Amino acid sequence: MTHGQAAAPVDRQTGSATQDQITAEIIASHAEQERAERASTDGREPPLTTLDFAPYRSSILRHPTKNPKLVDPETIELYSPAFGERDVAPIEADLTAQHNGEPQGEKITVSGRLLDTRGRPIPSQLIEIWQANASGRYIHQRDQHPAPLDPHFTGAGRAITGASGEYSFTTIKPGPYPWRNHQNAWRPAHIHFSVFGRAFTQRLVTQMYFPGDPLFALDPIYNSIRNQADRDRLLSRYDHDANVPEVSRALLFDIVVDGPDSTWFEDAS
Ligand SMILES: [Fe+2]
Repeated sequence: MTHGQAAAPVDRQTGSATQDQITAEIIASHAEQERAERASTDGREPPLTTLDFAPYRSSILRHPTKNPKLVDPETIELYSPAFGERDVAPIEADLTAQHNGEPQGEKITVSGRLLDTRGRPIPSQLIEIWQANASGRYIHQRDQHPAPLDPHFTGAGRAITGASGEYSFTTIKPGPYPWRNHQNAWRPAHIHFSVFGRAFTQRLVTQMYFPGDPLFALDPIYNSIRNQADRDRLLSRYDHDANVPEVSRALLFDIVVDGPDSTWFEDAS
C-alpha cells in the first residue's frame, strides 16, 4: 500500500485540502467505521472491509479492488524466498556503521522478537528496515524536500532472526518528513519493516512508530488503520534498562505475524 514517500505520480503534487479538512475527514471516516461495526455486530449489515481510506489520497487509486487470487500452495513453495543465512552479515544490522563516519542524529537500538500467534519465536527469517535520516530525508531521487542528506547514513539494514526470534538494529532516530497528501502534511517519524522468509508465502510490510508523536492524530496513513489496538501495536516501547549507557537509547518492537493480536501489515501486493 504505502511507504509514505511521494512514490506515485499522483503524489507529486500537493493535495489541495488543508490539514483541518483532512482531520475532519479522518474523524468522519472513523465515525462511519464505528457505525458500520455496530451495525455489523447487530447483524444488520456486513462488516466494512474496504481498504481505501479517502483522507490518504493515493490509497483511493492504489487499494485492491479484487479478491486475492487463489494459488496452489505447492506451486507457491517453488517460489519461496531462497536467500542463504550467510548472505546477511551481522554488520548489516548496524545502520550507523555503513560509512566512514558517524551519522548525525540520536543513536538508538530497535530490538524485538518475531512471534506467531501463540507467542512462539520464528527464527531464521529476514527482517529488513528502511527509514529517513535524522532530518527526515530519504536517499531517494523522488524525495526532494529541502532537508540535508547525510553522507554517513543510507537508511537501510537487514538481519536474520535468531533462535528465539530475536533481532536488533542499531540506527538513528528518523525525523518526521513532509509529503504531498495535502497542505502541510507531515508523516510521524517511523521505520519501515519487512518480514520475509521460508515461514511465509507473502512478504509482510509495516511501519514502526515512536511513542508520543504529536503527528499521530493528523496523519492519514496512521489513521488508515481503523482500530486503535492495531495502531498501538505499531508503537515501539522505550526500555530504559536496555539502553547502552553513554551510547544509545533502546526501543522494543515485537512483530506478531498472525492471529488476533497480529501486527498490522500493509497490503503487500
Ligand atoms: Fe516513510
